[in-house]
Amino acid sequence: ARLVVLVSGAGTNLQALLEACADPAYGASVVAVGADRDAIAGLTRAREAGLPTFTVRIPDFPDRAAWDAALADAVAAHEPDLVVSAGFMKILGPAFLARFGGRTVNTHPALLPAFPGAHAVRDALAYGVRVTGCTVHFVDEGVDTGPVIAQEAVQVLRHDDEDSLHERIKQVERRLLVDVVGRLARDGWTTEGRRVAMKCGTC
Ligand code: GRF
Repeated sequence: ARLVVLVSGAGTNLQALLEACADPAYGASVVAVGADRDAIAGLTRAREAGLPTFTVRIPDFPDRAAWDAALADAVAAHEPDLVVSAGFMKILGPAFLARFGGRTVNTHPALLPAFPGAHAVRDALAYGVRVTGCTVHFVDEGVDTGPVIAQEAVQVLRHDDEDSLHERIKQVERRLLVDVVGRLARDGWTTEGRRVAMKCGTC
């Protein structure tokens, strides 16, 4: 399966996918990496891996709809089977979802539907939960609302701050994302309403 990965930051989830894709048995390969900003480590990782990159910045467009359509065009140029939002910090809009809805997955550092949005780790700490985690889900028009594919719990420790908790979540998140993307790439999936079933027999 051909993957286009979208990033906005450090790109450690991207790196985990690149390492998994090095094994032909994984069944997927990253064909391009896109971003909404320049000069981020995620793009550097992609270039070091020899991959084409593209940047589609909101301030370069008259409005959000024009940006969304341009992002969809940039992604479409690489003919992906699956799009992976891996720390991409922008909401994908109607034009994008018209083309890639149902085959775009996102990773989120909380157990959705708890703590959606850009500050999930901070919000979970502020609420005082003892367990949080990460979620891989299909992207729909809402903010972190699409059908859940997989989740894993992470314990909140007494002395955690946002950075220490996020780092432990990200360790789990990378493994979960690699696992889900590989299974989707190899086996495909079905959706019934909000329920997502992978087509492989073991999940
Ligand atoms: C991840 O925790 C992702 O869920 C969140 O931002 C982080 C991105 O990490 N939205 P990286 O850029 O993949 O290292």
